[in-house]
Amino acid sequence: MSQPDVIALLKKAKENNNHFTFLVGAGLSAESGIPTFRGEDGYWVIGSKNYHPQEMATRQMFTKHPKEVWEWYLSRIKAYGKSIPNEGHYALVEFEKHLQGQFSLVSQNVDGLNLKAGNSIDHFYPIHGDLTFIRCFNECSDELYKIRDFFNPEEEITKETFDRLVCPKCKGITRPHVLWFDEAYDEKFYRLNSVLEIAEKTDVLFTIGTTGTTSLPHHIFQTALQNRTLIIDINPDDTIFSQVLYEYDNGFVIREKSGSALPKILKRMKI
Ligand code: APR
Repeated sequence: MSQPDVIALLKKAKENNNHFTFLVGAGLSAESGIPTFRGEDGYWVIGSKNYHPQEMATRQMFTKHPKEVWEWYLSRIKAYGKSIPNEGHYALVEFEKHLQGQFSLVSQNVDGLNLKAGNSIDHFYPIHGDLTFIRCFNECSDELYKIRDFFNPEEEITKETFDRLVCPKCKGITRPHVLWFDEAYDEKFYRLNSVLEIAEKTDVLFTIGTTGTTSLPHHIFQTALQNRTLIIDINPDDTIFSQVLYEYDNGFVIREKSGSALPKILKRMKI
């Protein structure tokens, strides 16, 4: 399928009031200076042992070493606080403006950049959480609290910082509002059922900046294949998704960075 064919199909889908779902991963934020997950990632040290994010980002590690795990997240929150949305984020805001109710944004990213760019919460599904929020570790309520009300990303992290991260309701410890590797997706915090419903009604699926490694994004992709959905993958590298799309007659692979590919598609769709 050529690029002009895809643009014609996208314009027709918009006119036919079809539903567009944008499934985004760490690659969308790469041009904002945020390292991807499976790229060159830093280690973290507790005691004398180096840990990988996959070992750090767990309920088990938090239960054993809450202060150290909080310190690791606070350093990421500081980094995210300095990051600004890139052209790919702003293109998704434009898509939402023109598609409105035909638009769903399913994000694996926890950097808060989609909302910072201007996407509305109404069509936004942060399925791995959002590091700009914290919540009660003991779940005395489902309430999400803005991290900025407890910690200013511009400030230094000190022992005193940790003492401030207490639940306003029960005074117990809080946790970052993110899905840990040893936890399961749910509707309450990660919009699981809503996203499964969206996957079923999706007519056009964009997979952007993701290796498709985690289970819910993989399920969304599989549902789209079963429903013969038009699928467009945007990624400078090959992934398990693009490998399938090369053999799928309603798919298109754009081997490009999202910061340039998305604005181009917008322009060619003349929206
Ligand atoms: N534009 C588009 N894609 C890009 C760009 C870019 N500028 N730069 C890198 N990429 C691609 C990489 O080629 C890679 O395929 O982004 C993808 C990032 O993949 P991962 O690092 O695996 O990130 P992601 O797919 O989002 O990981 C999913 O895994 O560890 C969990 O919770 C974590 O949300 C994360 C999930």
